[in-house]
Amino acid sequence: MRDAKLAELMRRAVTLAAQGRYGASPNPMVGAIVLDREGNVVGEGAHLRCGGPHAEVIALGQAGAAAAGGTLVVTLEPCVHQGRTPPCTEAILAAGISRVVVGVRDPNAQVDGRGVETLRTGGVEVEEGVEAEACRAATHRFFHWIETGSPFVTLKMATTLDGKLAARGGRSRWITSEASRREGYALREEHDAVLVGVGTVIADDPRLLRHLGLNPNPHLRRVVLDSHLRTAAAATVLAHAPEDVVVFTLEGSEAQQRREIEGTGATVVQVGDDGHGRCDLRQVLRWLGKHEVSSLLVEGGGEVHWSFLKEGLAQRLHAFVAPLVLGGREAVSAVGGDGFASPQEGVRLEFLEVRRLAEDLVVVAEVRHV
Ligand SMILES: NC(=O)c1ccc[n+]([C@@H]2O[C@H](COP(=O)([O-])OP(=O)(O)OC[C@H]3O[C@@H](n4cnc5c(N)ncnc54)[C@H](OP(=O)(O)O)[C@@H]3O)[C@@H](O)[C@H]2O)c1
Repeated sequence: MRDAKLAELMRRAVTLAAQGRYGASPNPMVGAIVLDREGNVVGEGAHLRCGGPHAEVIALGQAGAAAAGGTLVVTLEPCVHQGRTPPCTEAILAAGISRVVVGVRDPNAQVDGRGVETLRTGGVEVEEGVEAEACRAATHRFFHWIETGSPFVTLKMATTLDGKLAARGGRSRWITSEASRREGYALREEHDAVLVGVGTVIADDPRLLRHLGLNPNPHLRRVVLDSHLRTAAAATVLAHAPEDVVVFTLEGSEAQQRREIEGTGATVVQVGDDGHGRCDLRQVLRWLGKHEVSSLLVEGGGEVHWSFLKEGLAQRLHAFVAPLVLGGREAVSAVGGDGFASPQEGVRLEFLEVRRLAEDLVVVAEVRHV
């Protein structure tokens, strides 16, 4: 088969993989296509839901007997281990596939080349690295989590054109349009957890729930950074599904307040000091990574955004910018903290996307780690 045709099929498989963006986590998003001996597409699949069938198995199921002697095109190396479902390599060998085209190897220690090896040992011809960059990009959160042990971090902010998160006095409802807020809620459906600082809990008393029903898993882990446990046990965030809430605090924080928060059903986790009397974000991220949080949406406020950016712990920014000016020396900025002393010291970004949404602008940027 011509290289151009294979590349085109792999790009189609990448599109299929994206169907899993709400439900696959903490598994990777994967897309697969099966071709018969003549090169006709006879099956397509995506991994839609963690615990559900893998993309390869869906595509092979569609293909049925037509898979024998055919080709499987798959964005990520097939799994070789018994996880929540049986190994895909077994299904591929049983279907009599003669050639497998893989986008990228699975960096997961349980796979990492073994899927490819098992197929080759089973007599299957394996070609690797087709549209590798696109396949990796489609799975970037999973790769980051597996490679670092920490979730992929996206900062989400709704700001005025003059960079304010709230008006003087702290009111922020609403800065952006309903369409932007809806897209912000869709981001929650795509992430395993959301995080805010205690400043936001006190100012906005948010629920931080999923509202759109796009993710088959209703449990969104909700995280509060609260060094001295200023979160009231009566806070709204603790009133809904408290078992999904984790409050990070400093070691030695007040035992009585800890018991009160734990009494609601939430988890309190004590971490070390970051050197400024606040929760150490590296420890927070490691804890979340260990608890299957592969992606984290940080929803403010300005102090928390600053800490993530200054520490080099955010990978992406998703900003909704409203055609509104609020001004105010005391009004919270999108990024607070002490600030940098010169533009050269600042955090460099690369714009990935800039578009209009209703009357707002949406800017998606990647943090350049130099
Ligand atoms: N427009 C938007 O998108 C948006 C989104 C969210 C919030 N907001 C607005 O933002 C305002 C709140 O922002 P804010 O900057 O005042 O507070 P914040 O960022 O929500 O919370 C900051 C607080 O979190 C605690 N914290 C614990 N560990 C931390 C760490 N490693 N780094 C930073 N903070 C840590 C600190 O308090 P302790 O030292 O007591 O722990 C800190 O003062 C509100 O007015 C809210 O309405 C707007």
